[in-house]
Amino acid sequence: MVNDSILDVKRIREDFPILRRRINNKRPVYLDSTATTQKPRAVIDAIVNYYENYNANVHRGIYRLSEEATDLYEKSRKNIGNFIGAREDSIVFVRNTTEALNLIAYSYGNLLREGDEILTTIMEHHSNIVPWQFLSRKGVKLVFADINPDGTLNMDDFIGKINKRTRIVTVTHVSNVLGTINDVEEIGKIAHDQGAVFIVDGAQSVPHMPVDVRRINADFLAFSGHKMLGPMGIGVLYGRKDILESMDPFMGGGEMISEVHTYGSKWAEVPLKFEAGTPNVEGAVGLSAAVDYLRSLGMDNVRGHEKYLVSYALERLGSIEDIQIYGPKDPEKRGGVISFNFRNIRSERIHEQLRKEGIMIHPHDVATILDMDSVMVRSGHHCAQPLMERLDVPATSRASFYIYNDRDDVDALYDAIGKVRGVLRI
Ligand SMILES: Cc1ncc(COP(=O)(O)O)c(C=O)c1O
Repeated sequence: MVNDSILDVKRIREDFPILRRRINNKRPVYLDSTATTQKPRAVIDAIVNYYENYNANVHRGIYRLSEEATDLYEKSRKNIGNFIGAREDSIVFVRNTTEALNLIAYSYGNLLREGDEILTTIMEHHSNIVPWQFLSRKGVKLVFADINPDGTLNMDDFIGKINKRTRIVTVTHVSNVLGTINDVEEIGKIAHDQGAVFIVDGAQSVPHMPVDVRRINADFLAFSGHKMLGPMGIGVLYGRKDILESMDPFMGGGEMISEVHTYGSKWAEVPLKFEAGTPNVEGAVGLSAAVDYLRSLGMDNVRGHEKYLVSYALERLGSIEDIQIYGPKDPEKRGGVISFNFRNIRSERIHEQLRKEGIMIHPHDVATILDMDSVMVRSGHHCAQPLMERLDVPATSRASFYIYNDRDDVDALYDAIGKVRGVLRI
C-alpha cells in the first residue's frame, strides 16, 4: 500500500488548536470523529467574528446590523446547499440529524395512514428508528432490511420487503458502527420505482465524501454540523421543495408564519416555514466556514485519505490475535470507522472464567485502558442497539478517523490495544 496520504495531515493538525493540548502528558490521539469532530481555527474565528461584528436577530430588524446578520445567515444557507448540490430554498436549518429526521417523521408522517409501511435497515442509528416508531401509534408499520454476514446491506432482503404499501424508505448512507457505505443511488431508484419517498441519513457521509443530492436520488438528506468540523447545535435538512411545500410545519411560533390572526395563521414560504423561533445564526455561520474548509481540501481527497487510513488500520488491527472487526473488509465499501471486540468477549470459556474473577473484556474497559495512552475511542452500543442485537454483542469499541488523523494515530491505537490483556492480566 502507498505510504503517503493525499492530505498533508501535519499541516492540517496545525489548524486545530485542541490538538496542541497534552493529555496525560501525551499528544491526544482523537479517534472519535464519528461522535463529533474537532474544530479548526477558521470555524472558531468565523463564530467569534460573527459575535464581534454582526450579532443581531435575523429576518426582523430593518437596521443595518440586522440586515448584515440576515445576509450572513442566508449566505451560509446558500453555501451549505451548494456543498450538497442543492438550492438554498430546499435547505432547512435544524439542530442536528436527529431533529431533521424527527421533522420529517412528524410533518411528512402526518400524510401517512394506517397500513402504510416504512422500510429501513437494521444498521440504523436510533435517530433513524425511534422517530418512525412514533408513527406506529397510527398503525404505520416499520420494516427492517437485514445485513449480510460481511456487514453490507442484504439487497435481496431489502427488495423482498419493499412493496406498494411502502411510503418511506429511510437508510443511512454510511453506518456509524460497521462503516458500511450503502449504495444509496440504487436504493433511491428502487424506492422511487415503488412510489416511496427516499430519505438518506447523511450524518456519516456528508462530512467524509462528496455527496450530491441529485446523484443519490434523495428526497431528503439529513446531517449534523458538529460531525463535519462545524459547531454543535446546527444541522441541515435538505428536502425536495415540492415535498417540503406539501408538508405541515413542525413547530409553530415566530419566523415560520406570514400572517397570524387570533384563530388562524398562514405559513411562511419554505424553508422558513420549518424554522420556528430565533435560529442558530452563529451555528450556520460556523458550519459555512467548515464547508469552506472541507472544500479547500477537496471532498474526494477527504474520502481518499480515509480510505488510505482505514486500509492501514484494517491491516494493523487485523493482525492482532483474537480481534474481531465488524463490517466490510474492502476499504472501497466502508468509511473511516472501525468497530471491534476481543473475539472471546462472548466465548463461554473466557466469559465464564472472567465472570468468576469479576472481569471481562468489555469495550468500556478497552476504552479506559486506551485512554491511559490518550487514545480516545468510543465504546458502547453507539446508539444502534438493534444492530448490536443483530450482531449478538452487547457493545463494541469503535475507532473513527478524519482529516487530522494519520498512520501514527493508527499505530498508537495498535500499541494501546496491545496493552489491554496485560492490564487485565488475561
Ligand atoms: C448515522 C448517524 N445518524 C444519526 C446520528 C445522530 O446525529 P446527531 O446526534 O448529531 O443528531 C448519528 C450520530 O452519531 C449517526 O452516526
